[in-house]
Amino acid sequence: MSTAGPPPPSRLDPEPVPRRDILGLAAMFSAAAASFFALVGMLRMPKAAVLSSPSKRFKAILPDNLQAGEAFVPPGRSVALFRDGEGVYAISTVCTHLGCIIKPAQDGFECPCHGSRFTGDGSVKRGPAPRALPWLKVSHTGGNWIVDEGAPVPPGTKVQA
Ligand code: FES
Repeated sequence: MSTAGPPPPSRLDPEPVPRRDILGLAAMFSAAAASFFALVGMLRMPKAAVLSSPSKRFKAILPDNLQAGEAFVPPGRSVALFRDGEGVYAISTVCTHLGCIIKPAQDGFECPCHGSRFTGDGSVKRGPAPRALPWLKVSHTGGNWIVDEGAPVPPGTKVQA
C-alpha cells in the first residue's frame, strides 16, 4: 500500500496566474494610461480660450485745430470728444436703441441702423432710440486727456485743462 500523492511542485515550474489577477492588471493599466493622456491633454492647453478686451480707459490726443462743437472720434473707440470754451467732454457713440455705432452729423449724431438722431449734446431728437447718449468721464492728467468709456457722468460735465 503506497501513499504516493502528486509530486511536490518544483521551484522551476511557474505558478499559473489566475484570470482575476490578469483582469485587475488590465484595469490598472487602463486607468494609468487614461490618467497619463488626461495629463498630456491638460499640458497642451495652458492658455485661456478667450481674448482679453482692450481697456475702457484710454489716452486721447485732441487735434490742435479742433473747432468748438466739432466731434473728434479717436480711432477704434466709440466715443466722440468735443472742446469748447467751458472745457473738454466726451459722449458715447453707442446708440441707445440697439447698440449701433452712431456717426457725427452736421447738427449732432445719426444712427445708420434705424435712423435715430441725436443733438450735439446727445439728447434724442428722433427715435427709436429711447434715451440720450451717455456722457463719459474725462480727466486731464500729466498733459494728457484720459477718457473712461466705462464711467458715465452727468450730462454737461466738462473738464478744463
Ligand atoms: S440701433 Fe440706432 S436706431 Fe436702432
